[in-house]
Amino acid sequence: MEALKQKIREQGLVLSDQVLKVDAFLNHQIDPRLMQQIGHEFAERFAGLGITKIVTIEASGIAPAVMAGLELGVPVIFARKYQSLTLKDNLYISSVFSFTKQTESTLAISAKHLGADDHVLMIDDFLANGHAARALIDLIGQSGASIAGIGVVIEKSFQRGRAELDAQGYRVESLARIASLDDGQVRFLD
Ligand code: G4P
Ligand code: NA
Ligand code: NA
Repeated sequence: MEALKQKIREQGLVLSDQVLKVDAFLNHQIDPRLMQQIGHEFAERFAGLGITKIVTIEASGIAPAVMAGLELGVPVIFARKYQSLTLKDNLYISSVFSFTKQTESTLAISAKHLGADDHVLMIDDFLANGHAARALIDLIGQSGASIAGIGVVIEKSFQRGRAELDAQGYRVESLARIASLDDGQVRFLD
């Protein structure tokens, strides 16, 4: 998606050869027009698949997921993050380890909002090592829902998440694919 790549070139900050900071339009300040275009692009790529729900993770997945939900005309669920959980009634739960933050957290979705009749589009802001995606797949699996595909705003293709999801047979659509962040430069895959 050219508008997104352009934004990354203009406003992305390469923090290291592993981390791209996009606080100017995605992770802190949000560019609503760009998010709208992102939602439109996801809706086009996943049109006609019978998607009934979008599932993402708080916080940064919510903006692109809501825009896609608006375009596809389906509700958006965000998995909530907890440090620990005492009350687990009627919740699907899974734990996820964040490499960037070096913390483990628990993700939860209420059983009220997702069930075996649902066909889900997963959306997230970043795909790196795929830990968050794996936890979401686990949660959705607990509900009995099926997965239509996975939409990613920014994929770091040099980390293992994309290859693993491909190997598992998921349809992954990433709007910007980054081949490397070496020497302070963003290099896109195509
Ligand atoms: P993984 O889920 O793909 O394995 O990635 P990892 O554990 O490394 O990611 C943990 C958090 O960092 C996630 O956000 C993920 O979206 C984000 N992340 C991963 N790589 C980058 C990067 O290069 N740049 C930025 N800006 N974020 C990255 P989160 O903890 O869920 O945070 P939130 O922003 O949604 O609150
Ligand atoms: Na994030
Ligand atoms: Na995220």
